[in-house]
Amino acid sequence: MKFKDQIVAITGASSGIGRQAAVDFSYNGAKTIILISRNIMKLNQVKKTINPDCNVEIYSCDISDKKMVYDVGQNIMNDIGTIDILVNNAGIGIYGKVIDQTIEDIEKVTSTNYLGMVYFTKMFLPSMIKNKRGHIVNVASLAASFGIPGMAAYCGSKFAVLGFSESLSYELKNTNVGITVVSPIAVKTNFFDNESFKGKMPHKLGYVLNPKTVSRAILKASYSKRTEIVVPFFVRSAVWLKHTVPYLINPIISSSFKDGNHN
Ligand SMILES: NC(=O)c1ccc[n+]([C@@H]2O[C@H](COP(=O)([O-])OP(=O)(O)OC[C@H]3O[C@@H](n4cnc5c(N)ncnc54)[C@H](OP(=O)(O)O)[C@@H]3O)[C@@H](O)[C@H]2O)c1
Repeated sequence: MKFKDQIVAITGASSGIGRQAAVDFSYNGAKTIILISRNIMKLNQVKKTINPDCNVEIYSCDISDKKMVYDVGQNIMNDIGTIDILVNNAGIGIYGKVIDQTIEDIEKVTSTNYLGMVYFTKMFLPSMIKNKRGHIVNVASLAASFGIPGMAAYCGSKFAVLGFSESLSYELKNTNVGITVVSPIAVKTNFFDNESFKGKMPHKLGYVLNPKTVSRAILKASYSKRTEIVVPFFVRSAVWLKHTVPYLINPIISSSFKDGNHN
C-alpha cells in the first residue's frame, strides 16, 4: 500500500499508459485518483476498472488550452484540495516532415506535449512546495533524447519536457518536492492511431512495451530521486552511445520511420 492516503492526478487517463497508471495507483493504496482528459465518456469507462475502494474524480480538460487548465486546476483544488502526485502523461504524435507539416500541427503537438505539462505543473507546484510534499512525473519518451525523422515536432516537445524537468529538479532541491521523467520506447497503445502514421509505422523498433511496464515505472518514479527513468532501463545505454559515438547511432535512427528521408 505504497500510496496510502495519496491523492494522484493523471492527465491522459482515458487511454493507454495513463489509463493503466490510474488502475495501478488505485490498487496500490491511493486514496483519490483524479482522471483528466478531453473525453468524459472514456474516463467513465476507466473509472469502472479502478479499485472500488479508491475515490475517483473525473475532469474534462484540453490540456493545450491554458485557460481551461487554469479553470480545471482551480476546480480540483476547491473540490478535492492539494494533490500529492501529478502525472503529466497526456500526449500526441503527428507524423510529418517539417517541410510538409502545417504550423498548426506543430503548435498542436507542442502545446499538448510540452505546454500542457507546464500549465499543470504551474497549477499544482505552489501547493506542493507550500506543503513541503509532492512529486511530479512527466511522461516523455526516448524521443526526448533522439531526433527522429518525420517526428520533429514530437521530438522537440519531448526534448523540451526533459529539459524543463531537469532544470526544475535543481530548483526543487531541499523542498521535499520531486520531479522525475519517465522515458519509454514504443508502447502498445492507441498513440499510433493518428491518421498521419498510416504507412509510416516504425519498422526498426521491434521491441514494443506493454502499458503495464510503463505504468510500473511511473509508480516507481513518483517517489524516486532520479531525474529520468528510461524504460526499459538498458536502453539508457543507447542514449549514452548517441552522445559518445553519434556516427554509429545516427544512421540507425535516421532510418527508423519509413519514408523518413528526402529521397
Ligand atoms: N505509445 C508510445 O509508443 C509512446 C512511447 C513513448 C512515450 N509515449 C507518451 O506516453 C504518453 C501517453 O500516450 P499513450 O501511448 O498512452 O497514447 P494514447 O493511448 O493515445 O493516450 C493519449 C492520452 O492523452 C490524452 N490527450 C491527448 N491530447 C490531449 C489534450 N489535448 N488534452 C487532454 N488530454 C489529451 C488522450 O485523451 P483524450 O483523447 O480523451 O483527450 C489519451 O488519454 C504520451 O505523452 C506519449 O507521448 C508514448
